[in-house]
Amino acid sequence: MMDWTDRHCRYLHRLITRHTRLYTEMVTTGALLHGDVPRHLDFNREEHPVALQLGGSEPADLAACARLAQQWGYDEVNLNCGCPSERVQRGAFGACLMAEAALVGDCVVAMRQACTLPVTVKHRIGIDKEESYDFVRDFVGTVNRRGGCTVFSVHARNAWLKGLSPKENREIPPLRYEMVYRLKADFPQFTIVLNGGVTSNEQIAQHLQHVDGVMVGRQAYHEPWMMADWDRRFYGSSAEPPDRDAVEATMVQYLEQVAQQGRGWGHAARHLVGLRHGQAGARRWRQLWSDPVLRGDSPRQASARARAALGTAPRNAGPQSVAEAAESAPTTVQNEVQPAAPATTTPSA
Ligand SMILES: Cc1cc2nc3c(=O)[nH]c(=O)nc-3n(C[C@H](O)[C@H](O)[C@H](O)COP(=O)(O)O)c2cc1C
Repeated sequence: MMDWTDRHCRYLHRLITRHTRLYTEMVTTGALLHGDVPRHLDFNREEHPVALQLGGSEPADLAACARLAQQWGYDEVNLNCGCPSERVQRGAFGACLMAEAALVGDCVVAMRQACTLPVTVKHRIGIDKEESYDFVRDFVGTVNRRGGCTVFSVHARNAWLKGLSPKENREIPPLRYEMVYRLKADFPQFTIVLNGGVTSNEQIAQHLQHVDGVMVGRQAYHEPWMMADWDRRFYGSSAEPPDRDAVEATMVQYLEQVAQQGRGWGHAARHLVGLRHGQAGARRWRQLWSDPVLRGDSPRQASARARAALGTAPRNAGPQSVAEAAESAPTTVQNEVQPAAPATTTPSA
């Protein structure tokens, strides 16, 4: 998800779930072919398995970017055919590609020839007022026949290309899960992953009775601890479940490293805001993690402050840090955190 699932966010999510596949923000072919490749593609080795999502519609450009994805060590390369933003429409890619299934097939073929990674497609169930099941069935069928793609992540809503903002396009067109279930029934040999509006692990379990995977975007970002159960529940892992304090402590160490490297750690810290969702003190926690750099804190100081707000002692910090933190915690109430606008850690169970 753009601006959300950067490498720091994915590092945090990987501390919570070992097996879930994580997705990058969409990176356009133009940004990779004419821009700063390490800035867009570098990631932490801990993030595996991780998929790079590309935005583009020129087979040769997408092939060059798929090659880069392989060189940089990604596990999958995914083509975005679901983004409805005007900027993306002007570039003639994203959701408007659903009207050009043959071209999408050509793009997929070019990408598959350029690398040995799995090449997958993320799309909607339709565009504008085209609501027939046949449309999305033919899209999937053509992209498979022409491109050889067998893995489809389907956001179970239409994209309305005129008149709605990207945010509205994630809320207003109705969710129609039965369309995604039908795809799986008609193409049982393909991997069909359902996406859109999933907010609980019970819902994931229900969808998994009809499809092969579930992709969770906003809920996993805002409430990342929902993923703590996924390895055992959906991947059959017998490993100990993660411990929230230990995840936090590891993330704080990570933020210290980011700070030592002279990189903006505040940008990385904002992903922690949802970690304590549902616990006492969560609101204050969110406020404290939303702007730690403005207060001149180091990651450890910010952590001590935030833990004091929760009423727990900080790990890795001496007892006086708790008192200091409690004493110096600002008393003004800030606005609710609104994470910088729209990306997809899109975990798929
Ligand atoms: C902030 C934000 C950024 C997004 N960026 C992308 C993106 O880069 N690529 C993509 O395929 N989907 C993107 N999406 C859409 C999500 O991946 C997902 O399809 C959508 O939010 C519906 O799933 P959800 O209800 O689980 O969030 C974005 C969503 C949000 C909220």
